[in-house]
Amino acid sequence: MLRDRMEIIIKPSAAEAQQEAAAILRRQIREKPDCVLGMSTGSTPIPIYALLAAMHRRGELDFSRVRTFNLDEYVGLGPDHLASYRQFMQEHLFGKVNIRPENIRVPDGLAKDIPKHCADYEAAIRNAGGIDLQLLGVSRDGHIGFNEPSSSLASRTRLKTITPQTAADNAGPFGSADKVPRHVITMGIGTIMEARRCLMVATGAGKAAVVAQMIEGAITADCPATVLQMHPSCVVVLDEEAAAKLKRAAYYRWVYAHKPDWQRV
Ligand code: GLP
Repeated sequence: MLRDRMEIIIKPSAAEAQQEAAAILRRQIREKPDCVLGMSTGSTPIPIYALLAAMHRRGELDFSRVRTFNLDEYVGLGPDHLASYRQFMQEHLFGKVNIRPENIRVPDGLAKDIPKHCADYEAAIRNAGGIDLQLLGVSRDGHIGFNEPSSSLASRTRLKTITPQTAADNAGPFGSADKVPRHVITMGIGTIMEARRCLMVATGAGKAAVVAQMIEGAITADCPATVLQMHPSCVVVLDEEAAAKLKRAAYYRWVYAHKPDWQRV
């Protein structure tokens, strides 16, 4: 469904925000069993993937025809590397549901010819019919995927160099920031913007400042997530903590409470 602005959903707790996001994904898969999902990594989606895996265990969700494209991957890491995003997805979702391996796409961190691999990734998304629903998180500096501040708002899948801040933020599975690869392959901002729907999830006080900028700030490559204001159908699911710095939070709640039934997600 097309909307004329972001739809902001503020839930009392992170757990309720995660349940809302999982319910949106469940609805997408039930409405279109062979849908194409854009997947994201980071700490935010982990509980959402756990909820989807539990739905699958209970027999409520069938991934047998679902196709996925992940946003990004570290250059130099193969699919078996414990810190790769391909492994992350295996651990948190793919290994727990009945998705077919041939329906999973994650950029190849070991690709020899990176520009060609990126062009092929774009072509594969197009050949799959485009992404129906793109799950997104936002980093504290406003990057989506690995589109760091200053990324072109029209960018396509390509090699990026991460910032020192991102290396520090993502050090966890590597042990220290200096072990985090400097290069990544990421869908571009233009690629993300072509998804039919986007589902942005942000939880916790650490995201409050960037969430306020993303929703209420000027659109700028300095905070790539602000481009989502231009997306025709973007739902943003927040908990109270992540929503704490929004100027118009009361209005967003009012809009949500008075939404006509036909507009509800
Ligand atoms: C990484 C990923 C992003 C993700 C970000 C925030 O940089 N490439 O896709 O949104 O981390 O992660 P977290 O959810 O842990 O804050």
